[in-house]
Amino acid sequence: MFEQLNIIPQDPILSLMMEFQNDSNPNKVDLGVGVYKTPTGETPVLTSVKTAEEYRWRNEATKSYIGGPGNADFNRLMRELALGKDHTVLAEQRVASIQAPGGCGSLRLGAELINRVKPGNKIWMSNPTWANHVPLFGEAGLEIAEYPYYDRENCSVRFAEMCQTLEQEAQAGDIVLLHACCHNPCGADLNAEQWQTMAELCKNKGLVPFLDMAYQGFGSGLVEDTIGVRTMADTVEEMFVAISCSKNFGLYRERIGLLMVIAKDSHAADAVSSQLINLARGIWSMPPAHGAALVATILGSDELTTQWEAEVKEMRDRINGLRSQAVSKLNAACHGVDFSFIEKEFGMFSFLGISPEQVAKLKAEYGIYMVSSSRINVAGLNDSNLDYFADSVAKVL
Ligand code: LMR
Repeated sequence: MFEQLNIIPQDPILSLMMEFQNDSNPNKVDLGVGVYKTPTGETPVLTSVKTAEEYRWRNEATKSYIGGPGNADFNRLMRELALGKDHTVLAEQRVASIQAPGGCGSLRLGAELINRVKPGNKIWMSNPTWANHVPLFGEAGLEIAEYPYYDRENCSVRFAEMCQTLEQEAQAGDIVLLHACCHNPCGADLNAEQWQTMAELCKNKGLVPFLDMAYQGFGSGLVEDTIGVRTMADTVEEMFVAISCSKNFGLYRERIGLLMVIAKDSHAADAVSSQLINLARGIWSMPPAHGAALVATILGSDELTTQWEAEVKEMRDRINGLRSQAVSKLNAACHGVDFSFIEKEFGMFSFLGISPEQVAKLKAEYGIYMVSSSRINVAGLNDSNLDYFADSVAKVL
């Protein structure tokens, strides 16, 4: 049966990871895959996570299944982290949630639920968006459409065109995928007023927002970065939120995330919950325990939460500091080109704004790796490679 299969190219981000690992250039710089790095280029286990692991090792009493919805404390604490403890949708019991393997598991499960309710339903994605959004939703059976988002000329959000497209072309019941914060790949986010406008637009047109929140805490703050989630939840009756703990808890390989669905009332939320458990049973059956237990231990302890919040702040401050340093170095090295937009963007990613040929040259001749769209992971920069990076960019321009 396999003779008919062609070898297909790997996902661009995964193949870049492998190429980087196999490159023997001593000066190589990894600005590809979105993982946080320290000034010495490591992606360490957070201290709060290490403490939670030690606690778990001492106290875990069984390896038996944890059941379809996953760890109940994890579910509750993550819902509160995303919405704030006192949000009315929580008091009204309108929120269904399920633990899922990473942000991707959450996105895919949401896609499967949509396709079960409305097979082939349309989902609107930003142009550009994270490359993996397309297979996650497309292979679940949804029809993908695009709304304009990033203006590469002016390095800003094309908000008026985004609204116009959704206003004129989207139909009631369509899904609108939005990056809750730290847009991947462009780093340009909606501001509070734009979130409000988008929420009103979704409400008035009957569009269902689906927020992907993979970088909570990496933009402006753990609470500040939930402005999109909270504004939507305040305004619309139904929405999806896929949350990843990969970045802000540094739990990348533990694959831990949460899918949250807000429904019109508690009865609908119960129905959604049962459907999600049923869908997950047919895909991964029961969720893995480790990552959820660590997050629940951290968020369930005031002391560990304080420590974790400080660790998230340290990561965020370092990224924002690097953004400023990158702007000074690039502007000094590349006469006549202004990179100051990088300082105004959020999270780990920004486009450098150079061509795919220039990106390829940076890789081949200087060992500097970034996605061909010129998306850089700012956290891959540090004191030892910033000058080399800026000088190399200047040479290829
Ligand atoms: C990225 O965009 O680099 C990360 O989200 C990792 C991934 O899975 O692509």
